[in-house]
Amino acid sequence: MPDETTAPSALPADADAEPIIRCINVTKQFGSQKVLHDLTLNVKRGERLVMLGGSGAGKSTLLNLMAAETRATSGQVIVNGRNICSMSDAELDKHRTTMGVLFQSGALFQSMTLAENVALPIREHTDLVDRTIDTIVKMKLELVGLREHADKKPAEISGGMKKRAGLARALALDPQIIFYDEPSAGLDPVSVTEVDQLMIGLNETLGVTTVVITHEMTSAFRIAHRLVLLDQGKFVAAGSPDEMKNSDDPLVHQFVHGLTAGPLTDRRDDCDYLTDLLNPQR
Ligand SMILES: Nc1ncnc2c1ncn2[C@@H]1O[C@H](COP(=O)(O)OP(=O)(O)OP(=O)(O)O)[C@@H](O)[C@H]1O
Ligand SMILES: [Mg+2]
Repeated sequence: MPDETTAPSALPADADAEPIIRCINVTKQFGSQKVLHDLTLNVKRGERLVMLGGSGAGKSTLLNLMAAETRATSGQVIVNGRNICSMSDAELDKHRTTMGVLFQSGALFQSMTLAENVALPIREHTDLVDRTIDTIVKMKLELVGLREHADKKPAEISGGMKKRAGLARALALDPQIIFYDEPSAGLDPVSVTEVDQLMIGLNETLGVTTVVITHEMTSAFRIAHRLVLLDQGKFVAAGSPDEMKNSDDPLVHQFVHGLTAGPLTDRRDDCDYLTDLLNPQR
């Protein structure tokens, strides 16, 4: 396992090859609300990319687009050289098996044991016999330290264990890319470090390209080869952990250091609460 205190290790040697994910001028709109504005982003093969941003900035929306869970309103999302925006539903189903997603909500099936949860995508997407599936499930649960809890249901395990079980399920089909949406939300500090080490370990040992959304800045700096900061559906900064920590851009500085004064909070003050309350038009 990597040392908790050291800077992230270098990217793999083939990281300069064609990016595994390319988002080109991506826009996403829900009704009249434009949530992502003309975003362009490359993710390198084997990279650990962390996406930062305030609540509602559009992080989960972007992650869901890259994970082919939703479609862009315009622009292109190219994964492994193929534009997923022009795939049919059947092609998308097949494409999704190359990626694992740990959703913000966890999304384990409550009526199934952990083993059954992990087995589900394997049963759905392969013709493997039960014995082989059992072996794969044990290996995935062992990877996240839950093999002894295989027969428990989600209600019988802790929050941190649920995250790890979700991760075992995301790993079920040996994905090339894993997307993690707030993997450490609600966990105690030791579990946060454990989940961070698990993500780093999977990236380093299996070469899995890793895209993480987190609000935990210690985790973000521990995990990331590179960080991007989203604000109101636009990228406002990108850089290495050191570049982001030492940025003199006021918005980046405020966000990264969690300061109460700065452009992010000034913007909120611009909308005068009393005027808004007294305005009969709205
Ligand atoms: N399915 C949807 N339908 C309508 N609006 C949506 C939908 N999903 C997200 N939004 C809107 O898009 C905006 C961005 O949401 P998103 O979930 O991407 O934010 P986020 O950056 O992940 O925030 P958080 O840190 O709170 O998870 C929000 O205003 C949200 O209300
Ligand atoms: Mg989110």
